[in-house]
Amino acid sequence: MRIFFSRLLICTVLLFLPLPGFAAEQQPPPGAAIASAHYLATAAGHEILARGGNAFDAAIAVSSTLAVVEPISSGLGGGGFFLLHDAQTGNDIFLDARETSPIAATKEKYLTADGELDRDRATNGAWAAGIPGLPAALVHLATQHGRLPLSESLAPAIRTARDGFPVYERLVKGYSSRQAVMERYPGTRAVFLSSGKPLQTGDIFRQPDLAATLEQLAAKGFDGFYKGDVANKLVAGVNAQGGQWTAAELAAYRVKIRSPLRFRYHNWDIVTAPPPSSGGIALAQILQILEPYKLQDMDETRRVHLIVEAMRRAYRDRTFYPGDPDFVKVPVKLLTAPDYAAGLRSGIHPEKATPSTALSGQPTPLEDEETTHFSVMDGEGNLVAATQTVNLLYGSGLIAPGTGVLLNNEMDDFALRPGTPNAFGVMGYEANAPQPGKRMLSSMSPTFMISNQKTAILGTPGGSRIITMVLLGILGFDNGLGAQDVAALPRYHHQWLPDVIDTEPEALSQDAVMALRKMGHAVTVPAENKDGAASSHSWGNLQTILWNRAAGTLEAGSDPRHDAGKGTVILKSDKQ
Ligand code: DON
Repeated sequence: MRIFFSRLLICTVLLFLPLPGFAAEQQPPPGAAIASAHYLATAAGHEILARGGNAFDAAIAVSSTLAVVEPISSGLGGGGFFLLHDAQTGNDIFLDARETSPIAATKEKYLTADGELDRDRATNGAWAAGIPGLPAALVHLATQHGRLPLSESLAPAIRTARDGFPVYERLVKGYSSRQAVMERYPGTRAVFLSSGKPLQTGDIFRQPDLAATLEQLAAKGFDGFYKGDVANKLVAGVNAQGGQWTAAELAAYRVKIRSPLRFRYHNWDIVTAPPPSSGGIALAQILQILEPYKLQDMDETRRVHLIVEAMRRAYRDRTFYPGDPDFVKVPVKLLTAPDYAAGLRSGIHPEKATPSTALSGQPTPLEDEETTHFSVMDGEGNLVAATQTVNLLYGSGLIAPGTGVLLNNEMDDFALRPGTPNAFGVMGYEANAPQPGKRMLSSMSPTFMISNQKTAILGTPGGSRIITMVLLGILGFDNGLGAQDVAALPRYHHQWLPDVIDTEPEALSQDAVMALRKMGHAVTVPAENKDGAASSHSWGNLQTILWNRAAGTLEAGSDPRHDAGKGTVILKSDKQ
């Protein structure tokens, strides 16, 4: 395996001795571990564990701190999925805090006069934003699963918003690519141009309004964000930009508690995201198609061919079937049945690519990516896998004045115009058409893997590529890799349309690329990407934890592709 990036980690493992009284067969983890995309978020989680919080309290601290230090990726104005395992009850819970479509956001609102998709509306400003879900998730975690009050678990985020943090390169680069949109809005200018010019690397970025909003949430819970002063400012800020939000629909937002999607792969139980994510269904299809193959024993070309053919088939189904299960009937059982996978497998030619047009469709571009994932395990064995987002870089670019809350542009994840690809080049039809209050289809796939010996937690940002990155991570763990090696794994991706294998630099050997092309695959190799179309670089930001229960070891792995300006931090308990 090639690791072609420096190993900069933003994950920590806190080790301590097993609690007395645990039988050997039910030993708790040898410590706690957190992997996130920013060192301050990881540190916030550990601070809360040290104050007596559990993994769910720590998740609140990590999530809210990411909202402060990674506004490019996620925040209070966005949403997310939290996969939870409660060690005491043994329950797995999927907390769906996905944004919902505003009532006024009918599909006609996103069409130009000649009936085309209005891409500006879909991705920028007031109409791009769904009703945020993340604040409700934090409240739910605190009241239903945590041990500490929100005033404690949100304290690190409030402090970081008020005192500021050093700006890192990714924020600066992302800002310059979204600058024109962000500077349309007075509320955004007030935050991002407070010194009169855009932030530079190393500047201290303070967000006093966001600190005040977090304080309202800490003091009043749900009502602190969804009702009263903050809610009124959100509605006013959106409507001042031509949107049509109402106080009533903010107050009506609710998280949904769902059963995670589960299936077996080899000797693993995979526990992952159900609709409105498309991730779990696609992972179940791909892995069940691949189940009988001895991938490890194959040469690279044949292995990649089979994996890509499985990806192609799952993404084709993603286009037509999944959506918000509260609005459309998603045939989850059928799509995830081993027999259905066997049918899909039978159509794979061992030596030839299946043209995606044989399954129907048209080619589309891929765009850049953000969002964030974090993984948490506490010393009792409680687990959290959470992926949260504002969708594209800095979401809609719109901050409602006086709130510090950067709103998402998640509306673009709906099939706003049937058959027209969104920013990630994926499209959809009726199942994912917008409707008032409906959740837009997602690819976010926070996942647990449990075997007789090991427990792993993983997830990543990356738009439509999330699913294939999690897939390659699952295959990596199945292959015996450690947490850091899984985070660093080279990536390739196929999403049915465009009909191309998209690869990171050096993800595939030159021989394999040539052989795959002979089989009929189009392969995009970054060095050949002179026009800048499709991906020209690396992607993803995978954060993972591996607890080897048999060996009594605990590891965390943090994607080396992004460093957020800091290096490895390994903390050890003084109990050692
Ligand atoms: O929910 C989704 O699938 C997308 N909104 C996630 C966006 C994302 O990962 C952005 N980064 N590429």
